[in-house]
Amino acid sequence: MRWTGTSVSAAATERLGRALGAALEPLPRGGAVVALVGDLGAGKTVFTGGLAHGLGLDESVPVTSPTFTVARAYRARVRVDHLDAYHVHGLSELEAAGFEDLGGDGRVLCVEWADRVSDALPADRLEVTITPVADLERAAGPGGDPASAPPEPPRLVEIDARGRRSETILARARASLDAAIRSEAGAPP
Ligand SMILES: Nc1ncnc2c1ncn2[C@@H]1O[C@H](COP(=O)(O)OP(=O)(O)O)[C@@H](O)[C@H]1O
Ligand SMILES: [Mg+2]
Repeated sequence: MRWTGTSVSAAATERLGRALGAALEPLPRGGAVVALVGDLGAGKTVFTGGLAHGLGLDESVPVTSPTFTVARAYRARVRVDHLDAYHVHGLSELEAAGFEDLGGDGRVLCVEWADRVSDALPADRLEVTITPVADLERAAGPGGDPASAPPEPPRLVEIDARGRRSETILARARASLDAAIRSEAGAPP
């Protein structure tokens, strides 16, 4: 099962995270894993922040990239473990970072650069892929004028539910995900 949408601002990506975060409850037994895939600056941390706040994390608590700490835990209504696998190479480094203590029952695990550690992640997971649309156009071949590209391209956001638990969550999130990007069409915040 898959949801796809286009986010035209960081605020919209944050709202998508909130929508998914809210839909994680009631949390399935064993917890939930959100695997984030996308290049540097795509919006993985922005999405994770929305997700944690959607799960009740105090709005005054910022969610920042755990790149140099590898992992960080936030106290929302459930615990949200935020792992950045950018500098992680292989399972042993994950273990050294305390990976066994991440995720599990009653918790949500968000993993940035999940494609680097996908073998270590549970099969049942929500995979969020964020792609700046200009990258897609560039990948499509020559012809585009880079000078005319907007400074911040919209992001294609794809959410794949892999496994039963994740499908239940995504089904629950669908309407609010749609609403999260629809509201952008109205007045700016
Ligand atoms: N549509 C968008 N979605 C997400 N971020 C966006 C968007 N447009 C602009 N941005 C900006 O891109 C940056 C994304 O940063 P971040 O979430 O830290 O990326 P990542 O964690 O993937 O490296 C932020 O500075 C954000 O303001
Ligand atoms: Mg990040």
